[in-house]
Amino acid sequence: MALLKILQYPDRRLHTLAQPVTEVTEAIRRLAADMAETMYAAPGVGLAATQVDRHIRMIVIDISEEKNDLMVFINPQILERDGEITHEEGCLSVPGIYEKVSRAEHVKVSAQNVEGQLFEQEAHGLLATCLQHEIDHLNGRVFVEYLSRLKQDRIRNKLLKQQRETM
Ligand code: NI
Repeated sequence: MALLKILQYPDRRLHTLAQPVTEVTEAIRRLAADMAETMYAAPGVGLAATQVDRHIRMIVIDISEEKNDLMVFINPQILERDGEITHEEGCLSVPGIYEKVSRAEHVKVSAQNVEGQLFEQEAHGLLATCLQHEIDHLNGRVFVEYLSRLKQDRIRNKLLKQQRETM
């Protein structure tokens, strides 16, 4: 397995629309394992392929305390959404920034697993937020884009300054 480099906002590649996975191959399974390792090492609770500059529709999530409940969603689709919940969100591509975002409290998602089998997942609360956040990445959307233009500009400038200083 390998640790992958995570793209940092405002990298334009984070706005790429990810393509569907046509076949769940050994290479896809290897990427899922590398994404999981990268997420755990960061550490984070979710990672989309977009964030490691692989523009296919796959995300990994683990919101468990013990970090032993890895979920892989290939070609995830939101079938139902309702309610509303606000969480303070962060993102491995936007280090050090935490902001409140309102999303659906419940979603029902269909996806394929690493064996290529279709499954459905009901999600509430934090898991629902995570799924929506990660699926947004596949659509080229970063959570800061839900914030005001002023906040987005501040975050962009702060991160660009940090990136310059660490170069
Ligand atoms: Ni993120």
